[in-house]
Formats: sequence, structure tokens, C-alpha cells
Amino acid sequence: MSVATFFDEMSYGPAPEADTEARAWLARHEGKLGHFINGAFVGSASGKSFDTFEPATGKLLAKIAHGGRDDVNAAVAAARKAQGPWAKLSGHARARHLYALARLIQRHARLIAVVEALDNGKPIRETRDIDIPLAARHFYHHAGWAQLQETEFADQAPVGVVGQVIPWNFPFLMLAWKVAPALALGNSVILKPAEFTPLTALLFAELAATAGLPPGVLNVVTGEGETGALIVEHEDIDKIAFTGSTEVGRLIREKTAGSGKSLTLELGGKSPFIVFDDADIDAAVEGVVDAIWFNQGQVCCAGSRLLVQEGVAPVFHDRLKRRMETLRVGHPLDKAIDMAAIVAPVQLQRIEELVAKGVAEGASMHQPKIELPKGGSFFRPTLLTGVQPTSVVATEEIFGPVAVSMTFRTPEEAIQLANHSRYGLAASVWSETIGLALHVAAKLAAGVVWVNATNLFDASSGFGGKRESGFGREGGREGCYEYLKPKAWMGRKLRPEHGSPAPRPAAGDFAVPALDRTAKLFVGGKQARPDGNYSRPVLSPKGKVIGEVGEGNRKDIRNAVVAARGASGWSSATAHNRAQILYYIAENLSSRGTEFADRIAAMSGASAANARAEVEASIARLFSYGAWADKYEGTVHQPPLRGVALAMPEPQGVVGVICPPEAPLLGLVSLVAPLIAVGNRVVAVPSEAHPLAATDFYSVLETSDVPPGVINIVTGPAIELAKALAAHNDVDALWAFGSPELSTLVEKLSVGNLKRTFVDYGKAIDWTDRSAAEGQAFLRRAVDVKNIWIPYGE
Ligand code: NAI
Repeated sequence: MSVATFFDEMSYGPAPEADTEARAWLARHEGKLGHFINGAFVGSASGKSFDTFEPATGKLLAKIAHGGRDDVNAAVAAARKAQGPWAKLSGHARARHLYALARLIQRHARLIAVVEALDNGKPIRETRDIDIPLAARHFYHHAGWAQLQETEFADQAPVGVVGQVIPWNFPFLMLAWKVAPALALGNSVILKPAEFTPLTALLFAELAATAGLPPGVLNVVTGEGETGALIVEHEDIDKIAFTGSTEVGRLIREKTAGSGKSLTLELGGKSPFIVFDDADIDAAVEGVVDAIWFNQGQVCCAGSRLLVQEGVAPVFHDRLKRRMETLRVGHPLDKAIDMAAIVAPVQLQRIEELVAKGVAEGASMHQPKIELPKGGSFFRPTLLTGVQPTSVVATEEIFGPVAVSMTFRTPEEAIQLANHSRYGLAASVWSETIGLALHVAAKLAAGVVWVNATNLFDASSGFGGKRESGFGREGGREGCYEYLKPKAWMGRKLRPEHGSPAPRPAAGDFAVPALDRTAKLFVGGKQARPDGNYSRPVLSPKGKVIGEVGEGNRKDIRNAVVAARGASGWSSATAHNRAQILYYIAENLSSRGTEFADRIAAMSGASAANARAEVEASIARLFSYGAWADKYEGTVHQPPLRGVALAMPEPQGVVGVICPPEAPLLGLVSLVAPLIAVGNRVVAVPSEAHPLAATDFYSVLETSDVPPGVINIVTGPAIELAKALAAHNDVDALWAFGSPELSTLVEKLSVGNLKRTFVDYGKAIDWTDRSAAEGQAFLRRAVDVKNIWIPYGE
């Protein structure tokens, strides 16, 4: 056959990348790799190992040490020892180390790309052109944050020793996402790669050691889920960062509850890919290729749910099917293919089963008539049309090359369908009308939205989800905070008032006719009688009854949550409007300052001066958050791609607040004010022992134009009401201050819908200390940052 024939046919021939160096690296280790602990490779203490296979052929690649308790202990000890000196290095010195790691990745890019393709089964084109360059970019970018740490994060300290558990879909890139910020900001790391794909993490550790990274700063312990669990449960770890399935994320939330560990979870998704009838259809078709066939669809933010406007659906599906015929499935090292192998037979089986279910539920399946390579785990690119929104394939994460398609008529219906998911990781919107695309982007429940694009990532821009896609952000300034903690919160001890029981009424006290009234609850802008019709006495420090408040129960919480849900207008109100109302509350409180000070003194036994100071501090705090309301703004990230990413802080929604037992007014204001300043609606449970400052506050709220449902107050037993809030699926976040038991309970019970929690483990924040109790640390926790990528410039 002549060259001319090939030119005429444009037929496809394999273009394999050499694997000589990668195989030589494995051979140097004699096909057996140990953990990397304290700067050296060591075998597993138990002598146990497991195998890692080549997904494209099913052949054994290497034997890997299985991490047991002793291995994890050794790694944690090394990390603990190394962390102090590492954090004490200047930011510049750490920046030099990270810069060296970035250069190292670039110098060994081809080797890493080939090892990754062999171990994971993904195309070399992707590891070579996307995963490895992006990983290097993460180290460069975060070298910059290390350099700037002392000025940009002056009020923050590193979290400490960090356990990081990562999945198999982007083994090397996930390593970079986790390791780069952690090390940059002065933490040390114990990393556990996924059992299917441990090789590039070990290769990286080996390279890092040669680059002079101090021993113990980065440790890699290999193993399966069991090893991950040992890391998660280790007492001497300060933070867990996890990427993987929602199922395991939930388990980790439960296991870390009450341990004092901070936690970030990057979990699954079922991301919508919305095509409007004015979209550039060819671009959108190409977008689908990147959304769901990139990495065989094994992408947490894969655009797996196509929502296509009815008018263009036939033409869109036709063109998509035609494009599918041209996709090539082949060996990972073939440079000319689009898709390669699924990571493991068990994943392949899961995909096959889910697709069969979809078909059984009435979907029409389309697969191109392409040959699959023999041996190994392969699956054809697949499109399911005519899918019902409730079908299992429309709701479950398939984690394979399977797009499911549904149609819609109006933008509002598209938003409704898109948000009809327990997940909220990413979304992609296709329209040539900027107004429409940005209107929809703002309404999508997702941590990342791409306009006329999909699957764009960069170290400068935060990535992470809402709802059951987890919490926390990776990348950018917002991601740095996940590896830092405010210095003002460190080392405080439990204050004596904390957890101390409220005084009990003395016998006969109820006979005292000192009660002028029983305070009700405050729900939906109105004072409401508690459901159970019970009330509880409020006592002075000497045990005298000084008032009564309603005894709220689960049903009252439910009513308050309904009222807060209904007040969604607050979240879309202008920041200017919210600021006005905060100032107004402050002003009305100020005009009744003496009355509030007297009440605080009577309730808590505080001196007149201290009580007055608490009222003054509360007024000042309300003014501060009024000031912040229209100044806590987003950022524009400028990734090295065409376009910009708007990092928009968004309210989390309905937030439950359990106020601290002490500082009855200031505690309430310190928590509620930042939350409402950025647009949340609140259900607050005031200090159990001293609730009257909160019930007196009702009339301040009533006269301050606070829209009904924005602030709801339910008095009663803190623990019981915290349980009701934690278990409520319509509560998006829960802030709880008080005893360590309360913190544990709140974290444990918040697993259902993976609420964001903000607790103090009894290490009280001093509410009178402005540097600890006010400002951006609270505002940051009151929002989720949504990164909206939009085309911009050339
Ligand atoms: P997985 O969530 O079980 O594994 C992720 C990592 O967690 C691995 O390193 C694993 O060893 C570790 N792990 C497992 N059990 C653990 C435990 N109890 N404690 C601590 N660490 C633990 O994911 P898997 O089983 O590999 O995949 C199953 C499904 O999960 C996929 O089909 C997909 O739907 C989803 N998934 C989602 C990912 C994402 O990025 N969102 C990534 C990987 C999987």
C-alpha cells in the first residue's frame, strides 16, 4: 500500500509510546515496592503485600506493600517529627522545595506519564498532556503561596500532620492537588494512594527524596481501604483530606466525628451538561466528548447527565452519535486513541450492570460499532437516551463512559432537572446567550460551573462540591485555607462556664409570682407557642426563677426550618440590603442597651460593667458584619487557559446554630450576624442556661425589618435541638458551640446529607476577643465558593 492510499483513507494505525523506561523502573525495584516513610523505602512490617495490575492487559505490574497499623504508626511518627521544623522554615525556603518538586515533575514527565497510563489504563495522551503538566502547575502555583504565606496568611498557622487518601482515577494529579498545598503551607503528609494505582505516588516519593525534600515531610503508605481507615482513625493526625466515593466519605465523616480533626471531602457527582437551543451545537458535541469520554468517564465531575433543550435534541443526538462513531478505543500507550481501559474488572462489571438497569428501565442505548481490544477491561462509549429523571442511571454515579440524556423545555425546567440530585459537584452550560448562561450558572447547585466548556481545572481556581459531593475546596487561595487554622483559635482551654449544668430551681421557686410572661419561640417572623406547650424556668445564678421560656422540640425545629427555607429571598437580596438591615438591628439594640445589660447581669451574674461591655460588643459586631456584607466579595481567577473563573461566595442556605452557653447575647450575635450577612437563613438555639437575652432580641428583630424566616430562634435543650437540626436534611450546615460532647454529636449526626459543620470541641473561642470571634474566619465558613468558568478574551 502506498503513502497516498493512507492519505486518501485517513485510516487509523497504532502509534505506541515506548514503555522501556517505565518497565526498567519497575525492574529496578524487582517488581516489589514498599512504603516511603521518613525519606526511605521500607517493606510492610507485617510482610503482607497486594498486587497492582495493568488494566489494559490484566497482567501483573508489581507487588505493593500492604500498610498495617505499624506502618501507619511509623509514618505518622515521622510526619509528626518533621512537621515542626518544616513549618519553621521560611516561606521562601518551602517555596524553593516546591519549586524543585515542580521542576522535577517536568524533568521526569514522560516516565511519570507512562507509568500512570500503564497502572491506571488511561490514554497516554491524557497523562502526558493533562495530568502531569497540571500536577507540575500545582506545585509551581503553591510554591508561590509558600513564598507569600507570611504576608498573605499572617493570622493563620499550618494545621499540622495531614492524612490524605486519594482515588485511582487521577492518581498523580490527585497527589499534586493534595500534597502541594499541604506542604506549601507548612504541614507534613501521610498519603495513601488507591490500591489500583499506587505506582506514580511511589515514583514521586523517590524523586522527591533525590530532590532533597526533608525526611518525614512526605510519607506514602500503600494499602487498601483498611489502610485508609487506619490513617483516618489515627489519633496523632490533625486533618484528613479525602477524595473518593460518597459512601466512604460518609464513613470518614462518622469516624472523625469528635476527634478534633479537620476534614475535607471531595466526593462523587452526577454533573449536568445543559445544552440550550441557541448553543453552538458542534462545540457542545465536542464538549460531551471531553465531559464523559475523557478518562473513560471515570471523573468525579464528569458531565454525565445531558440535559438538552427539546427543539435541538434530535439534531444534537444525531451529531453526537455520528461523533461517537469516530472515537477510538485502544491501548493506553497508543498515542492516537481517545479512550483506553477501565481501571479494574470490578469497575467494568459495575458499569455493565448499571447500563443494563438503565436499558431495563426503558432507556435506548447507543454504542458505536467499534472494535474493542482483546483482554483487559474495556467498555464502549455509550449514550442512553429517553432516560427518566428518576431512573437509576440518571441518579447514580456510573463512573464510566456512559452519558445519559434527557430533554427540557424552559430554562427553569433545566435548572430544576439539573439540581434534582443529591450531588452538587460541577455543571456545564452551553448557550451563545451570555445572559441566559450566567442566569443559569448562578442558580445551579454546584461548586464549579463551566460556561461553553467542560472539565477545566487549574491550580489557581478552587474545586469542590456542595451537598453530598462533599465540602472544602482544592486550589487557589480558597484551597489554601483548608490547610490552615486561625492562630487566634489555638491553645484555648475550656472555659469554666462550658458544659456546666444550668442551676436547678430550688423547691418552692415555682410558687414565686415573679414571672411577668413566658417567652415563646420566634419562627417565621412571629412569636410562636412551642409545639409541646411546655416551658422551662430560667434561673439566676442564685437559683431564683427570673423568667420562663418555651421548651422547643423536634417539631418546632421542623417549623423553623420550613420558615427558613421559605425565606430564600434573603439569599438573593442585594448585599447592600442585607447590610442596611444589620445596621438597623444594631441601632435598635443600641437604643435598648441598658435593658439588655440589666437582663444579662441578672441572668448570668455578670458585673454591670461586663454586662454593658457585652451589649456594646454585640452592637459593634453587628456593625462589623453590616460593613462586611457588601465587602466580602468574590475573586476573579486567571488560569492559564482561555477564560477566567469567577470565584463567587454563595450562602450555604439554611444553617442551624447552637449558641455557646456563655456570653448569651454576644455568642448569638457573633454566629448569626456573619451567617445572615452573606445571605444564609438561620435557625438558632440560644444559650440553654441564659436564653432571655435571645428572647428579648425578638422585638429588636421585629422592629428592624428582618424578613420573616431569616432568623428563627428556638429555645430549649441544646443537645436535643442539636440532634434535630443535625438529622434534618433541609439544614445545609450546622454551627455548634459548647461542650466537646455537643461537637461530637453534631459531627456524627450530620453524615446524612454531609452537612458542613463548624464546632469548637469545647476549646472555646473567647467571644469578647474580637480577633478570635469576628471577621473573615467566620464569613469563610458561612459560604461555599462557586467557581464559574467563562470565556474571556482571546
Ligand atoms: P473508594 O472511595 O472506595 O476509594 C477511594 C480511596 O479511599 C482509596 O484510596 C481507598 O483505598 C480508600 N478507602 C476505601 N475505604 C476506606 C475507608 N473505610 N477508610 C479510608 N479510606 C478508604 O472508591 P472505589 O471503591 O475505588 O470506587 C467505587 C466508586 O466510587 C466508583 O465507582 C465511583 O463511583 C466512586 N469514586 C469516586 C471518585 C471521585 O473522585 N469522586 C473517585 C473514585 C471512586
